[in-house]
Amino acid sequence: MKIGIIGTGAIGGTIAQKMVAAGHTVKINNSNDTERLKARAEELGAIPATSKEVVKDVDVIILSLPTIAIPSLPKNLFVDVPSNVIVVDTSNYYPFRDADIEEIKNGKVESVWVSEQLGRPLIKAFNNLLAETLKHQGKEKGTKNRIAMAVSGDDVEAKQVISSLINDTGFDAVDSGSLAESWRHQPGTPAYCTELTAEELKRALADGVKENAAAIRDAAIVALSALPSYPSNEEIVEFNRRLFPKNPKSV
Ligand SMILES: NC(=O)c1ccc[n+]([C@@H]2O[C@H](COP(=O)([O-])OP(=O)(O)OC[C@H]3O[C@@H](n4cnc5c(N)ncnc54)[C@H](OP(=O)(O)O)[C@@H]3O)[C@@H](O)[C@H]2O)c1
Repeated sequence: MKIGIIGTGAIGGTIAQKMVAAGHTVKINNSNDTERLKARAEELGAIPATSKEVVKDVDVIILSLPTIAIPSLPKNLFVDVPSNVIVVDTSNYYPFRDADIEEIKNGKVESVWVSEQLGRPLIKAFNNLLAETLKHQGKEKGTKNRIAMAVSGDDVEAKQVISSLINDTGFDAVDSGSLAESWRHQPGTPAYCTELTAEELKRALADGVKENAAAIRDAAIVALSALPSYPSNEEIVEFNRRLFPKNPKSV
């Protein structure tokens, strides 16, 4: 497939690398100047592109940006992009990083807000595993205890296409329902960065409580920031699992 990725940091860069390794053609764009973008593209095996070029003649566009950067994308970004091109959002809203976005703080589902900013339907995916998990924990399809990733959106066929790309990155995909239901894999839920198998993830998605998620997310950030040293990927996953007594892997 032909894939355009905007934002090639920890998550977008890893997705780019894995898509290239799976045989897809990947163009990338970020906020860098041309030389740094070129260097990043070389590192990832991708093609550097302007924001206009990165969305042109592709099957899928992946946005992997801090939520606060979404409104600063070019206003006409999707004007010439056909409606059958799938747009994916990997973002998670963190007030300490993304400042106050009142609508999200008042309960609007994060990717619904992103979709409204862009004026475009979205699939939410690649948001509920840590970048290190995405980078190092992928396994062949059918492997025992393969970790699963949630995918949400209103277009069933588009979700199938993205599920196939998720499989290419070494993870099972679990359909979490409509975009309005994508809060089930936002921060502060049992499905968020807990490295579950597909069956466990289905239960975790059902276990989430929307009204509690923001408070759990913010308390988790305070607790993790208070640790004497930056926690490892494994420590963050264990921490997240312990937040939820009903989580299938809680200890
Ligand atoms: N890190 C994780 O473990 C993880 C896991 C799941 C989901 N997420 C979510 O995925 C999103 C990206 O996270 P990340 O950790 O990959 O962030 P990151 O490492 O900070 O990378 C962000 C990328 O976005 C680019 N960018 C920022 N503003 C831009 C703009 N206006 N136009 C174009 N590109 C822009 C940056 O460009 P430059 O390279 O030029 O700075 C950078 O490449 C966030 O919403 C995050 O919450 C993160």
